[in-house]
Amino acid sequence: MAASRGEFSSRIGFIMAAAGSAVGLGNIWGFPTQTASNGGAAFVLVYLVLAFCLAYPAFMAELLIGRYGQANAVTSLQKMSRTTFHKRFAFFVGFGGVICAALILSFYGILAGWMVSYAVEPVLQLAAVNDAANWVVAQSFARNICFAAIFMFLTVFVIRRGVEDGIEKWSKRLMPLLIVLLVILIAYVFTLDGASDGLNAYLNPDISRVLEPDLLISAMGQAFFSLSLGTSVMVIYGSYISKEENLVSLGAQVTLIDVSIAFLAGLLIIPAMYVAQAQGVAIFAEDGSLISGSGLVFTVLPSLFDTMGSIGLFVAFIFFILMSVAALTSSISMLEGPVSYVVERHQVERTKATTIIGVVIFLMSALIITNLDMMLGLVATLATEYGQPIIAMLCCVFVGWIWHRSEILKELQQGNDNIENGLFWKIWPWYTKFVCPTAIAVVFIHSL
Ligand code: PHE
Repeated sequence: MAASRGEFSSRIGFIMAAAGSAVGLGNIWGFPTQTASNGGAAFVLVYLVLAFCLAYPAFMAELLIGRYGQANAVTSLQKMSRTTFHKRFAFFVGFGGVICAALILSFYGILAGWMVSYAVEPVLQLAAVNDAANWVVAQSFARNICFAAIFMFLTVFVIRRGVEDGIEKWSKRLMPLLIVLLVILIAYVFTLDGASDGLNAYLNPDISRVLEPDLLISAMGQAFFSLSLGTSVMVIYGSYISKEENLVSLGAQVTLIDVSIAFLAGLLIIPAMYVAQAQGVAIFAEDGSLISGSGLVFTVLPSLFDTMGSIGLFVAFIFFILMSVAALTSSISMLEGPVSYVVERHQVERTKATTIIGVVIFLMSALIITNLDMMLGLVATLATEYGQPIIAMLCCVFVGWIWHRSEILKELQQGNDNIENGLFWKIWPWYTKFVCPTAIAVVFIHSL
């Protein structure tokens, strides 16, 4: 089984690949942007609570489904089913996740393309081809199509080669570098005027805002997006984990890495916003709201790099390359969802399936680019604020209500003989059964 489907070659391989999927634009772009537009520290607080108390348990449910089923999301869920109704439900949930992954990739590829273009720009500037340098960072149809195509090509290229060769190798090498660079940049930002105001906005919550419906639903969407939940991705990655590994600790480590990197990114970008504002770049409007929502990172960071003098171009290049790689290790996981589904359920050859699905998703990106302002937000909201939490909730329902406790225990015991005596086993099964689905539903109802 392992040889034909691929399996992560080591524990660290899985952690890096799953963390590679989790850590991406969601952490370094999405989280700070959402924080800035949803009341700063109050959002951070709610996000942290939801990430650990809601997303982590749901993440464990998805990993468990995958490792038990040793297959794509639909097949894995169907293996747990006992009745025809369960099987239909399994199809709905699994296939829903696959569609969600495809939808996300269709807009993610565009944003990731921008990262690539911002990595190319400093090189062009150094080569003194200024027209080209301006072209790659200007919002135009041609530039968006071009870089989305480049990014999609890279994603397809890696996925065609399969798990071990493709996904693992990339994640293992470049993620640690990203963390180091973030820490260096944070240290730098704090030497500049205005940073302490940013720190205050980031860490000093206005508690009266934490129950605001918009804030709650955005924080929940962000937490699920960041851990790549509700997209069949973590089910697939779970299916590549060997039966000798301790799932509970693997899941916890990945969650911790993911949340920490988002937190670090906020610690860089929120203070950098205030620094930019102090230098006369318009970041906030008179009423304190943000002037440029999704473009935030592209205003704030280049102006930060500008303050560095001549090494700024070099730092910009390294930063945006690492961002592109972080986006790539996420996008390959998104493509792996639909690909493994088609390969395993419809017996299509892997390279062919990858190419066809890649082209289809790219065409979806092209469609979004034709009306970027409207469609990007629409697809993103649909897939991340609704699709992901709903599918993740249904995975919890599956584990909690369709599976027997004894089956869950048996799967968890593989790689962890002692699980029965630990805290996880005392809490998680009923928590996933009752608390997770209810909490997710309550956030939805509250937001209506
Ligand atoms: N978690 C990724 C990020 O934060 C995005 C992602 C979503 C990846 C869904 C896979 C599936 O950028």
